[in-house]
Amino acid sequence: MIDDILAELEADTSLEVGESFARVTARYFEATRSGEGQVSTPRSTDELARRFDEELPRDGRPVSEIIERLERDVLSDANKYYHPMYMGHQTSAPLPVGVWMESVIGALNQSLAVSEMSPTGTAIEHQVIKWMSKLAGYGAGAGGTLTSGGTEANFTAMLAARNAALPDALEEGVGADPPFVVYGEHAHYAVTRAIGQLGLGKRRGIPIPSRDYKLDVDVLLTTLDRLRDEGKSIMAVVATAGTTATGSFDDLEAIGAICAERGLWLHVDGAQGTSGLLSANPPRALNGLKHSRSLAWDPHKMMLLPLAAGMVLTRDERDLDRAFAQQAPYLFHSGKSSRVIDQGIRSFQCSRRADVFKLWFVIQRFGSSGLGRLYDHLCHTARLLYDAIEERSNFENLHEPESNILCFRYLGRNPGSGTSTTSAADVERIDALNRELRARYNKEGSGWITATVLSGRPVLRVTMMNPRTSGAHVHALLDGLTQKAKEIESR
Ligand SMILES: Cc1ncc(COP(=O)(O)O)c(C=O)c1O
Repeated sequence: MIDDILAELEADTSLEVGESFARVTARYFEATRSGEGQVSTPRSTDELARRFDEELPRDGRPVSEIIERLERDVLSDANKYYHPMYMGHQTSAPLPVGVWMESVIGALNQSLAVSEMSPTGTAIEHQVIKWMSKLAGYGAGAGGTLTSGGTEANFTAMLAARNAALPDALEEGVGADPPFVVYGEHAHYAVTRAIGQLGLGKRRGIPIPSRDYKLDVDVLLTTLDRLRDEGKSIMAVVATAGTTATGSFDDLEAIGAICAERGLWLHVDGAQGTSGLLSANPPRALNGLKHSRSLAWDPHKMMLLPLAAGMVLTRDERDLDRAFAQQAPYLFHSGKSSRVIDQGIRSFQCSRRADVFKLWFVIQRFGSSGLGRLYDHLCHTARLLYDAIEERSNFENLHEPESNILCFRYLGRNPGSGTSTTSAADVERIDALNRELRARYNKEGSGWITATVLSGRPVLRVTMMNPRTSGAHVHALLDGLTQKAKEIESR
């Protein structure tokens, strides 16, 4: 008998049930944005796994019961990105209207594969791509698609570059002597992963060392000269606008000019930093975007969209189309200009949710200037932390923030003990202290930060992704870290 289930699923469409979900979200916003409670969870992964370790439910339960459990068992120990003391990874405190739009996107369930499955979604995606391409300095022939994030965007762009270098690769494979990809050593792992996954072999990737955490342009030049002299072909040069570790911008003007002169494909991984284009004072490096042939740009990072909302753009839409070059006449349809309207021909995915709806909504809600002000505010908060660290002798900054990311270290109780004049034992002690500090601070729950390794040494790292984080929170972070460090040092 199906009647009982049909009745239940119709009842679930009611406003009352919808409101019970909305109330969970609103309660979560309210409880976390004020900065009360734990930022994350003190519980171990084993403990959490045990909480959910149960037999597959055979029978259904009322929505209200499951919602109660959702709040008790799931939300309680989730990471609270709305908490102003969350300064961890590049996951945003998502803009509320973006969150509310999630239920609309789910309800409409449009698939962006073909426009007949998403008539308004496809039209809107083309329009949003047009807006973003224009911001990037691309002309009328540009194109792109939303992606699941920066990893897919980078992969897609590299696939397009591979197709330009090896037009037969889709049919014939890459052969015994595939071309090389040159990238900054600090590039996101998505880049080296793509080099491997595209069949080139990771050894065809050539990392260029950094100077001040940016791709060293002089070394790039000598490397490109050497490859040319050795008769090696180059598929792409990859630069980063907003690196994962330090938020630094590679010198896109200089790198772009070199690529333009040599006819090389420049791909810019701007997953993190391209949103700076919205700022009243965009990072100067972004002027060089005009030289790029492809660009990864994640609205789910500095435009504060909820996951997932990534994007890849190519200066020439045909580069993207040729990368997939799949004939499916039963499926894909062209417009009047014979340009294919269906986004499925330029996307890795077939069924694809209409994340563009929430992006379109957010752009209308705040405008490019509002989103730009949010970007600037997040960068300003990173600068406040930098200034606060400059005033404290037991911390050191590793770099000036170019965006919303900052790496720093705790130097121990004796100021200056982290400098190069200290003994190897001291260096090891401070390294161990910084490693332990982050773990203990996060576990205690009043704040949450990340860590990375710079020049072989462990460092503390913050990413400002929550507009609610203020100067007071920045000082609270340093006070909290100092307190924890004291506890460790006095053991
Ligand atoms: C510079 C850069 N590129 C790419 C990525 C990957 O993006 P996603 O996690 O959305 O796949 C990241 C994520 O941290 C990043 O910082």
